[in-house]
Formats: sequence, C-alpha cells, structure tokens
Amino acid sequence: MTETAIETNGLVKVFGDNRAVDGLDLTVPAGAVFGVLGPNGAGKTTAVRMLATLLRPDGGTARVFGRDVVAEADAVRSLVGLTGQYASLDEDMTGRENLVLIGRLLGFRKPAARARADELLEAFGLTAAAERQVKNYSGGMRRRLDISATLLNTPRLLFLDEPTTGLDPRSRNQVWDIVRAVVSYGTTVLLTTQYLDEADQLASRIGVIDHGKLIAEGTPGELKSSVGAGTVHVRLRDPAQRADAEKLLSAALGATATPDPDPRRVVIRVPGHGTEHGAAEDAARALSELAVAGIVIDDFSLGQPSLDEVFLALTDHPATEKETAA
Ligand SMILES: Nc1ncnc2c1ncn2[C@@H]1O[C@H](COP(=O)(O)OP(=O)(O)O)[C@@H](O)[C@H]1O
Ligand SMILES: [Mg+2]
Repeated sequence: MTETAIETNGLVKVFGDNRAVDGLDLTVPAGAVFGVLGPNGAGKTTAVRMLATLLRPDGGTARVFGRDVVAEADAVRSLVGLTGQYASLDEDMTGRENLVLIGRLLGFRKPAARARADELLEAFGLTAAAERQVKNYSGGMRRRLDISATLLNTPRLLFLDEPTTGLDPRSRNQVWDIVRAVVSYGTTVLLTTQYLDEADQLASRIGVIDHGKLIAEGTPGELKSSVGAGTVHVRLRDPAQRADAEKLLSAALGATATPDPDPRRVVIRVPGHGTEHGAAEDAARALSELAVAGIVIDDFSLGQPSLDEVFLALTDHPATEKETAA
C-alpha cells in the first residue's frame, strides 16, 4: 500500500465569478513525481497555493499526509516546501548568504545552516557561484538556488510550480535532474507544468486539469493509450506513391492520415479499440498491404501518441490559454 501524499475532494476556489479551481478531486501517492498538466489559467497555481496553506479554499477539502490544510495548517506547513513562480531570493545577497539566511529563519543554528547550505550548493552545482550575488546569476542558476532553498528542511512534499517555464533547454535538463534527485531521497513532488513532454519525462502519474477540473488521471502510458493505440509513421522510397500509400493505410487502419510536410512520410493514428491484439498487429497488417501493392518503404515506426494529442483528444481543444475577459 502506497501512502497518500495529497487527497482533495471537491476543492473549490472562486475569484469573483471565476471558478479558478472548480471541484478538484485529486489523489497523489507518496514517493514519486505527480505531474499536474494544464494550460495557462487552468488553475494549477491556485490549487498548489491552497495545498501549501497560502490560500483558503472556498469549498471542498484537502489533506496533505492526512492533515487538513485548513484545520491543521501548521502541521501541513511543516511538511511541505514550495517553489515556483514567486521566488523569495534576495538579489543583493550571494547564493550562500541566501541559503544560510533561509536556514536561520527555519530555525537552524548558524553552523548547521552553513553546513546545509554548502551541502545543497554542492548538490546543485552552485559551489563555484556560491559567493556571487544572485542578481548576477543566470535564469537556470537562479531556479536551482530557488529549489535548493525549499529543500533546506527536506520537506516530505515539495511543490514545484512550473519549475522550467522560461528556461533554455540546458537549464531545463538540469532542473529535471534535480527533480529526479529530490524524489530519489524520498520527497514526494507535485510538479505543475504546461509542457507535455516534461510531465511525460518526470511524472509517474499525471493529472490533466482544464478550467479548474481534473479531466484525466493516470500513468503517462495510460493517458496516451486512452486516446488511441499509437501512431504509425511510414517513410516511402518514392514520394509519388504517397497518395496510394495513404489510401491503403487509411483503409487498413480505419483512420485518416495526419498531414505531414515531408512528401515521403505518412503518419496515421491507430484508433484504440480496447482489444488485446492492439496497434502492433493492426500496423503489421496494414504494412503488408503496402508491400502487396508494390509500395516500397524505407522505414517505419509505431509510436505512442504524444501528450499533445492526448490533451487535444481529452478537451476537444489544443493546450492553449484559458480565455479571459481582459
Ligand atoms: N489572485 C487572483 N485573483 C483573481 N483571479 C485569479 C487570481 N489568481 C488566479 N486567478 C485566476 O484564476 C484562474 C486560474 O489561475 P492560475 O491558478 O494562476 O492558473 P495556472 O497556474 O494554471 O496558470 C485564472 O483565470 C486566473 O486569472
Ligand atoms: Mg501558474
């Protein structure tokens, strides 16, 4: 039995007439990364702020390791760490000074605060930059320092609210490594993201939220297979045969080809039909029909659908921003 880190029931937060979080039911098992995936404005930050006791719910309940976020807010606060879009670092202090200060605020004695700061700076590859003022840090360094600050007191649950938004790919990868390291030390991570590949890479379970509601939940594989069995990519020797190839594959798979800019490529989603034999068998049969028709292929693959396709299938709209009155 896995312990439950977070359990919400009908959680609601209303701003004016905007139901930012609208009856959220979420169960997050302990010991792993849980990804909360949703477009800008979906209610991710609002939900996290309620779970971190920074915002009072207007309805429903939320528990963190069994403690109610309203009635037992102090207990919850002692269990969680929060980082994300509202870093509280002092720009004029060095990275090390920031960590030592936060450690002192958390109640560490000076030598312990220093030792813990040095340990984290080392772990996050910031030792060389430790004596530099934070205002001279790159975006990636700042993000790493921000995360390390939340780990000073090794929380049991760490909220990472869009930890890689706006980062370049290299810094993004560094943050991903850190997230994996944090989990390997036993901390549960609730990570919000707008990036489908990020949730896919890091999370063992994903909750998809849209307009303040959970619209799907499961492992990345489950979410992807709920949408379709997979996608067949075929690379033709002769682009002149593309129309024939598309026609044959569409008929064999019972689906239409997705337009592709490469004239030699045909991409077709294999519809899921919940049977045992599944996409691989369907794809193999379709490919053999190409061979019979004398259509030569240089390459083919059968891939799981992307999370982008998942979002589209679940919401009937792509993962775009919530429309606001502004
Ligand atoms: N303090 C606030 N006051 C009024 N509206 C807010 C406030 N915070 C968030 N909202 C609104 O609530 C909705 C959800 O926002 P948010 O939780 O920030 O979404 P996300 O983090 O998924 O981008 C949005 O429509 C946003 O404009
Ligand atoms: Mg947000």
